[in-house]
Amino acid sequence: MMSVRILLHRAVLIATFLFPSALLASQEGAEISPERQSQLIHLLRHDCGSCHGMTLKGGLGPSLLPDALAGKAPDLLENIIYFGLPERAMPPWEGLLTRGEIHWLVERLQKGEIP
Ligand code: HEC
Repeated sequence: MMSVRILLHRAVLIATFLFPSALLASQEGAEISPERQSQLIHLLRHDCGSCHGMTLKGGLGPSLLPDALAGKAPDLLENIIYFGLPERAMPPWEGLLTRGEIHWLVERLQKGEIP
């Protein structure tokens, strides 16, 4: 009997194949308005920061600084944010953030371009 945890991780991996970010090119950062971009940064610092730390260097959740995310596949990180890892206290943001917004955030996080 496979554990729920393994099944959930499989689901995130499978989703990574189903929603490669190449297919999302049409919703990428260029089309996110400056107002929405500052809302996203606020959300990152406050909502994500409540677990990942206000400076994103880690807390209950792991560090989201570029060093910590270096070499990690953007699609996988984007799916973790979209679907969450419910068994490990990472909530899903589906419904609150679009795939394009999550793509924009992951790109900023990996480049360390958070104002
Ligand atoms: C309630 C606490 C909580 C909140 C709020 C939260 N996270 Fe997380 N997050 C976690 C935990 C815990 C993990 C680690 C899960 C694990 O053990 O793999 C995680 C994992 C991640 C990962 C994977 C990191 C890696 O190196 O694999 C990313 C990316 C991430 N979170 C981004 C975000 C973003 C972006 C937000 C806000 C939109 C957010 N998280 C909000 C708790 C949270």
